[in-house]
Amino acid sequence: MKSAKDYIIFPLDVPSARDAQRFVKLLSGYAGMFKVGLELFIEAGPEIIRQIRNSGNAGIFLDLKLHDIPATVSRAMERIADLGVTFATVHCGENPKMLEAAVEGSRGGVGVLGVTVLTSVSGGDIHTAGFRDEFSSNPSKLVMKRATIARDAGCAGIVCSGLEVKMIREHFGKGFVAVTPGIRPLWDKWGDDDQQRVTSPAQAVTDGSDYLVIGRPIRNAGDPKAAAIRIAEEIEAVIAHQ
Ligand code: C5P
Repeated sequence: MKSAKDYIIFPLDVPSARDAQRFVKLLSGYAGMFKVGLELFIEAGPEIIRQIRNSGNAGIFLDLKLHDIPATVSRAMERIADLGVTFATVHCGENPKMLEAAVEGSRGGVGVLGVTVLTSVSGGDIHTAGFRDEFSSNPSKLVMKRATIARDAGCAGIVCSGLEVKMIREHFGKGFVAVTPGIRPLWDKWGDDDQQRVTSPAQAVTDGSDYLVIGRPIRNAGDPKAAAIRIAEEIEAVIAHQ
């Protein structure tokens, strides 16, 4: 059965393999999955995936957010599938064929997640990018549109903010994975960072999120392990009543 800590994905947003290993050691057993993003992958390369795998049994989420022509994305996803990670991301963008190519390249060896609208993006940003008012006045509408494209392309699920996860769950049912970044516990003093569309851990799980990406509230805490435990307790309180 999925336990509270299995909901937590900790992003290894650090500049070196050494820093990453320190967090993996500290948080193994307190997070269900570790996420490797661009910063760490550029610095440490695919070797870091092997190192994390050897450090415990947490899953690995390779968050490279691919966005290119379909042939390139397909070939990149083939290489990612060889790394043996649980999830990998591709931007939903504007080309359904790119998503189909990502799924084809994965050959069933990795769960492909479509990034709908980044949680750092506001309605104003969407307006500036030239989208119609129906999307800039309601970013959730763009999330739903892109989630539909991802589902139709065969993706395992999507990345969206906690604000949309209820709609996603109602619309696509339980089999479609919803990963939510932009998580801020109520006790965390956020407000001066880049996340715009945020939710608390309890709210995101209540609304049907499968996994929560929680970085700075854990990483910047005086005691990161204690912060992870506190978040898991909040999640546990929700799932105990589900
Ligand atoms: O909790 P915190 O804001 O530190 O988490 C940031 C992490 O979530 C980063 O690794 C970022 O890439 C990831 N992320 C995000 N928004 C998305 C997808 C991923 O913030 N839509």
